[in-house]
Amino acid sequence: MTKICCIGAGYVGGPTMAMIALKAPDITVSVVDVNAARIAAWNSDDLPIYEPGLAEIVKECRGRNLLFTTEVKDAIREADFIFVSVNTPTKTYGIGAGRAADLRFVESVARSIAEVAESPKIIIEKSTMPVKTAETIKDILAASGRRLAHQVLSNPEFLAEGTAIADLLEPDRVLIGGEHTPGGDQAVAALVDIYARWVPRERIITTSLWSAELSKLVANAFLAQRISSINTISALCEATGADVDEVANAIGKDSRIGPKFLKSSVGFGGSCFQKDILNLVYLCEYYGLSEVAAYWNGVVHMNNWQKQRFAARIVRTLFNTVAGKKIAVLGFAFKKDTNDTRESPAICVVRDLLAERARVSVYDPQVPESQIRSEVRGPDGENELLTVVSNAYEAADGAHALVLVTEWDAFKHLDFERIYATMPKPAFIFDGRNILPLDELRQIGFRAEGIGKPAYSAPLLPHPSLKTVYSPAALTV
Ligand code: NAD
Ligand code: UGA
Repeated sequence: MTKICCIGAGYVGGPTMAMIALKAPDITVSVVDVNAARIAAWNSDDLPIYEPGLAEIVKECRGRNLLFTTEVKDAIREADFIFVSVNTPTKTYGIGAGRAADLRFVESVARSIAEVAESPKIIIEKSTMPVKTAETIKDILAASGRRLAHQVLSNPEFLAEGTAIADLLEPDRVLIGGEHTPGGDQAVAALVDIYARWVPRERIITTSLWSAELSKLVANAFLAQRISSINTISALCEATGADVDEVANAIGKDSRIGPKFLKSSVGFGGSCFQKDILNLVYLCEYYGLSEVAAYWNGVVHMNNWQKQRFAARIVRTLFNTVAGKKIAVLGFAFKKDTNDTRESPAICVVRDLLAERARVSVYDPQVPESQIRSEVRGPDGENELLTVVSNAYEAADGAHALVLVTEWDAFKHLDFERIYATMPKPAFIFDGRNILPLDELRQIGFRAEGIGKPAYSAPLLPHPSLKTVYSPAALTV
């Protein structure tokens, strides 16, 4: 019986291995982690991550051919395939701090394999790695002196949180990079065979190791770039009275542009976009490509600006002061249908509002209070102006403004008349995701504002410079 070991039981390791276990009942899959609490949660009814459809799959496979354990060394020893799904965060210290990937967890896994393995393994980079990381792994394995013919492959993961199960069931593509040697080709073919149980062969792409590693960083950079691009246009829409959703729809109909990832927002979040672009920036700088580095850095810069711009707009619209005012923040996860808050734009928005001395009341359907508090906590510790409540109505009660930061479907169906009645007037709504019907809210009485939408008040006059150029007088000259 084929045995797989996956090191790292996180947002990637858990769902991807659950899917393999579901589709390949003849393979035993052991997911291992050094975090005992996380493994205990995977073995309980309360899984450590919220992902629609995941609990059902885990329930079906767990104890059959899907195991969660802290026995890392045993699992490595017994496995034929070892997936490396550990975290690769941005380095916070030393050379490359703030940009380079911190590879200490990857290196520690490579050392464990070198120390424990008694037979040749196929080692698969599932984590997102800087290009050429496979070389480091191979080097560490070779230094063990055991002369085992391990193979290292790159098989980056493209799932998005909130839709992980659908993405894994029907991926646009599966990418596998390996060395073009007889051993490398054999290892690639063995991994292709596992995916081919449910993924059509034409969607399984095989490339060199370096192309696979780099493609992952580039895919995330391109996706994030689209969001930053449309967000730049949201600012221009607010200045001119155009509507960013109408612009996105109009350009997205061009089949060369396409409609996806053009939803303007308060900014992108999540553990990967920023980290992976910064990693790309670092790599470019390392290879002396400063113009390329600056180009991609702009995507992150623009995202930070968008988050700050949103918070600043709230303050400006609330008559330039929010000190002492209650502000309700709806949503804290970085997107809907996940409990993940890593790099969530909500963190910046809440911190900026607290810095302006607002009394901020946060509600999220899936994120626990302790997690919200730990994300917001600053160097000075707990902020007494922050409260976390258990429903949207409680958050809104007595609030001067309602700020929607995560696009949870439930927020579309709130009783806004009831909410309006409990708020001081004028009552403001800022929709950071453009999911609410602004016109209907305005009819209730709200001063409702969206991202990249014509402002509620102050009908826009033509821009002075355009007036000069296009005035009849100018035309007769
Ligand atoms: P995560 O932090 O949720 O999980 C990583 C796990 O690895 C943690 O539980 C940690 O305890 C464990 N770990 C670290 N070192 C270990 C060791 N030496 N032995 C055993 N366990 C160890 O991270 P994640 O979100 O699952 O991301 C993992 C990788 O996948 C990252 O490189 C990320 O960029 C990439 N990725 C993430 C997503 C996503 O949606 N989160 C999607 C695609 C790719
Ligand atoms: C993203 C990629 O979509 C995955 O392919 C990739 O595997 C993953 O990163 C990763 O490497 O971790 P994820 O971050 O889970 O997935 O979620 P996305 O759907 O990409 O959303 C990222 C952020 O962008 C969210 O904050 C989301 O709200 C925002 N977003 C997305 C927008 O603001 N506008 C859009 O049009 C799309």
